[in-house]
Amino acid sequence: MYHGIYVRRPFTLVPGPDEVSMEFRRIENLPPYVFATVDALKMRLRRAGEDVIDLGFGNPDIPSPEIAVEKLCESARIPRNHRYSASRGIPKLRKAVTDLYLRRFGVELDPDREAIVTIGAKEGLAHLLWVLAQPGDGVLVPTPSYPIHQFAPVLAGASVTQVPLGPHVRDFFENLEEAFRRAWPRPRVIVTSFPHNPTTYCVDLVFWERLVDFARENEVVLVHDFAYADVYFDGYKPPSILEVPGATDVAVELYTLTKSFSMAGWRVGFLVGNAEIIAALQKLKSYLDYGTFQPIQVASIVAMNEASDYPKVVRDIYRARRDALCDGLERIGWTDVERPQGTMFVWAPVPDGFDKLGSLEFAVELIEDAKVAVSPGVGFGPGGDGYVRFALVENEQRIKQALRGIRGFLESRA
Ligand SMILES: Cc1ncc(COP(=O)(O)O)c(C=O)c1O
Repeated sequence: MYHGIYVRRPFTLVPGPDEVSMEFRRIENLPPYVFATVDALKMRLRRAGEDVIDLGFGNPDIPSPEIAVEKLCESARIPRNHRYSASRGIPKLRKAVTDLYLRRFGVELDPDREAIVTIGAKEGLAHLLWVLAQPGDGVLVPTPSYPIHQFAPVLAGASVTQVPLGPHVRDFFENLEEAFRRAWPRPRVIVTSFPHNPTTYCVDLVFWERLVDFARENEVVLVHDFAYADVYFDGYKPPSILEVPGATDVAVELYTLTKSFSMAGWRVGFLVGNAEIIAALQKLKSYLDYGTFQPIQVASIVAMNEASDYPKVVRDIYRARRDALCDGLERIGWTDVERPQGTMFVWAPVPDGFDKLGSLEFAVELIEDAKVAVSPGVGFGPGGDGYVRFALVENEQRIKQALRGIRGFLESRA
């Protein structure tokens, strides 16, 4: 039942109903934001003077490349850069990302037809799903997942079928095939993202080859969010779906500067791949926005072209933090935590003895007692409860401090 707010208008010049229904049907199906509980606690504790170590929100703390910051300042002083820009992104920026794809993945793309700039991967994905799906359409999405993967199709009015994913899953492709057969309405779109947030699940090129074949046979569109393209470790290197020959017939991929270049606040991402889908998103975006502030676009070109070694700098920092956290968790007896091969997260099962609490209650007790914020797995959808996600967004010293707090908490409850 809807419990909305009703505003009584005391006076109006225009004849009409004297009660306006504040009913927001499009967002009605969005559940309350689970992470808000831990966030609110964090704020309360900090206001009370506590030093909370925040490993919850995946908000990168590593500075953006200096050369990009300098270019941003310089371009911001040029008045012609203050005007509306191009909603699909300026040509040199689209060329910079297609050059990056050629260098990094050996994938050749046409910057005019096969690349468009988005306001980060998140906006790109949300509006892409408006273009690809509508009420009556089905979309397959892994669960648990980054929330917008589930809710972009919901906002488009489509029906979501969830596909189980996680450390316990032996062959995710089999799960996908089975979910596809079961799903009604028949899915038109499959959303994936590997290395995966939050589970850190990774795939190889063979997986993409199977999926591209499957998409061709079953006439589905593949959307791959490649947010962690450059955050990988231990000899593993995540392939782009577009490395599969002919993948652009059925697939599009989101690439973003957020994690690779630690440029989260700049809001620069791209959709690359199938030209018809790019054109469709371009049409929608031409109604919605005038493009990112041009100095940001100019500085992003410099980041990709002149700071191409920066993703390695970022990766090395995350690897050291991952090792500090995983080694530490093992030492204090929080076992069964997989060392991720990709992403900036550690996906840890709620420790033995606490499993009955569920991930939200565990996260609440952890922040209250150990002063360490983590994301409860339940917030990422079915299959997530039973886990918490650590984001590697504090330095090694702070991670070690967090581990001391966690050890104290675990020992006090033993
Ligand atoms: C899987 C995934 N996609 C997209 C994003 C957001 O990317 P952007 O900042 O480019 O919108 C994140 C951020 O955490 C993410 O984990």
